[in-house]
Amino acid sequence: MIRAFHTFPRGFLWGTGTAAHQVEGDNRANDWWAWEQQPGRIVNGDRSGKACDWWGGRWQEDLDRAAADGQNAHRLSLEWSRLEPEPGRWDASVLEAYRTMLQGARERGLLPLVTLHHFTNPAWLADSGGWLEPATAERFAAFVRRAVDGLKDLVDTWFTINEPNVYAYAAYSAGAFPPGEKDFGKALRVMSVMIRAHAMAYHVIHEAQPQAQVGLAHNYRGMQAAHRWHPLERASAAIRSTIFNDRLAQAVYDGRLRFPLPRETLALAARTQDFIGLNYYTTENVSFDLRASGELFGRSVYPAGSDLSPSAFVANRPEGFWQALRWARQFRLPIVISENGIDDATDGVRPRYLACHLRQLWRAVNFNWNVRGYLHWTLVDNFEWERGWSQRFGLWALDPLTQARTRRPSADLYAKICKSNGLSSEMVAQHAPEVLDDLFPGSGPGRVAFEPPV
Ligand code: FCB
Repeated sequence: MIRAFHTFPRGFLWGTGTAAHQVEGDNRANDWWAWEQQPGRIVNGDRSGKACDWWGGRWQEDLDRAAADGQNAHRLSLEWSRLEPEPGRWDASVLEAYRTMLQGARERGLLPLVTLHHFTNPAWLADSGGWLEPATAERFAAFVRRAVDGLKDLVDTWFTINEPNVYAYAAYSAGAFPPGEKDFGKALRVMSVMIRAHAMAYHVIHEAQPQAQVGLAHNYRGMQAAHRWHPLERASAAIRSTIFNDRLAQAVYDGRLRFPLPRETLALAARTQDFIGLNYYTTENVSFDLRASGELFGRSVYPAGSDLSPSAFVANRPEGFWQALRWARQFRLPIVISENGIDDATDGVRPRYLACHLRQLWRAVNFNWNVRGYLHWTLVDNFEWERGWSQRFGLWALDPLTQARTRRPSADLYAKICKSNGLSSEMVAQHAPEVLDDLFPGSGPGRVAFEPPV
């Protein structure tokens, strides 16, 4: 068999990502906790409960697992409702607990990358208008100031806000996240408050810590016309992609007006990223549907025969990851893959999903595209928002009742990748033989190895 090895640049960051509410447990003072108590909000009536019990201390054993498997970075988020349980009241013991966690990550050789807002809000903030209220931007900036002052000796890389597009859409247009609104106009207003909040946070962080690296985590979702010959379908896919993927990203890039935003917001937002955080999961096809006026006459579908996760939530479409990387590259900034993964309790698809996506990432680094790291979503199964415990994204399985963790085969594959800083044909032959010939043509069994003429 021909052996081949895809190497990544020296110092490449390999890790996993988590979010406070999904792993900590007992986050009672935020809007999600209240939402989970309402019947019908979460699949199967699930609740976050103890989640992965990180607040009870199990972050230690999980970060041990990450470090033992060769990871050198970890992305986690701070829970605003713990640090500031009432407006203006700061809980110093919570800051201390995060300091211990961040120190613990560093001691294990994991570079911490910290997200300041990952979908949850203090209940008091939600009660005073949440992200529809313009003053939320100032409140967020004040929170960021205190958090950064308290942690800047331990953290250099900050994500201000995770996926503002997903948050605005899910909370204000689809109604799946609290406060459950279904009003596209409100979602656009929320995006503009989030742009201002991000911009203020960017400046605040640089004032407190001039050498900080600040970005946000963009969710890029590939959107293609289901039928390339269909002009209306192509138009619908293009408009949806522009609104979802491009508008906010462009505002924080060059501050140019592409949807109604106050002029001052745009001036403040220009050039407020030191790197691009890219979250990529999948690509959808858009089929034309006259009844879907609220969705710009398009409906999301996966093509027949797609390689789907068990819940059909994610399709394995690595070519879309390549498109996402090309999209990210237009901003001419370093890129960090801040999320990529698949829900797959039985681990039947994950190994090939991982191998195929890393192959695309390797193509990008081979063109010298400035990609600094890859953070797989996620380390251990965690509370998956409105989909509760029905979706399992972990390299490790979790039984939330007993807190028992069980290693999935993908953890072995990822450990080999992290430890060797690359992906080899042998790893693929062992863990995802079904894609071996796609990724390493000619190296599969039964192929005649190329013998150089003597
Ligand atoms: C992303 C979220 C993350 C997780 C993954 C599966 O949109 O940022 O918290 O839920 O999806």
